[in-house]
Amino acid sequence: MIFVAGGTGRLGSIVVRRLVQRGERVRMLTRTPGTAPVNGCEVAVGDVRNHAAVAAALEGCDTAVWCVHGLLGGRGAGPDQIDRAACIATVDAAQRAGVRRFVLVSIKDAAPDHTSSLFRAKYAAEQHLRATGLDWTILRPTCFLELWLDIVRGRLGTGGPAVVLGPGENLLNVVSVVDVAAVVDHCLIEPSTIRRVLDVAGPRERHPRRTGSRSGRDCDQASATRRTAGDAISRRALRAGVRETGDPGGDAEHA
Ligand SMILES: NC(=O)c1ccc[n+]([C@@H]2O[C@H](COP(=O)([O-])OP(=O)(O)OC[C@H]3O[C@@H](n4cnc5c(N)ncnc54)[C@H](OP(=O)(O)O)[C@@H]3O)[C@@H](O)[C@H]2O)c1
Repeated sequence: MIFVAGGTGRLGSIVVRRLVQRGERVRMLTRTPGTAPVNGCEVAVGDVRNHAAVAAALEGCDTAVWCVHGLLGGRGAGPDQIDRAACIATVDAAQRAGVRRFVLVSIKDAAPDHTSSLFRAKYAAEQHLRATGLDWTILRPTCFLELWLDIVRGRLGTGGPAVVLGPGENLLNVVSVVDVAAVVDHCLIEPSTIRRVLDVAGPRERHPRRTGSRSGRDCDQASATRRTAGDAISRRALRAGVRETGDPGGDAEHA
């Protein structure tokens, strides 16, 4: 039985579907009763901060996958509580439950001195997992393409501006969540990924200001997807329409 924390999420739901499709027994944890994204998947209801709920959900599992983050969780459910404390507690609970294999989805450039609390929390959880005797794999994806596109074009439908994360001057790597799910699945099949820290990245770095719609205003979702490269947003359009919203912000190998 494979336990998936975050099985309703952008990544976790694809992971669950893949696992069920290849005949694995899967139990996913969600805070929302009645959720069942995939036929044949068991659903455990609970919060990752609830130790009893996590322990119950892990019962009978030999494998665990962590696809949760607390970036949007708000007070008491942010990175320190979810990505650090709850993730560490889940690793410990997994060991007590007899789990052998643990795949942790962390984030590219997680580090103890990172300016973002999410990246520091992910790093702390990574270190904890690495110190266990579990068969662990740590995956460090870059930003998910699908999330990034949702943010960039989120306001276009209502005539708003395209949104660029950060100053728009730094190169950005995005990776499709579909590819990340395939890597998670591969790790569960391939023993050579055990005790490895793997970056999971898209094929090339892109310049945010050169990615997306020319006008940033009249582009629908389909055209935004089509024009992913080389279609520069002019400086004038940027000044007029693109708002800065802040930075989302080991020694990993590359997957
Ligand atoms: N998104 C990115 O660009 C990106 C980049 C690099 C790494 N990652 C990592 O990839 C993984 C998946 O991210 P995602 O973007 O797919 O996530 P997402 O779509 O935002 O979904 C978050 C998931 O976490 C669960 N969750 C959140 N707080 C919880 C809590 N307190 N208790 C139980 N479950 C909780 C949610 O379940 P319910 O709401 O059903 O309870 C949901 O399934 C995370 O580890 C994230 O750090 C993401």
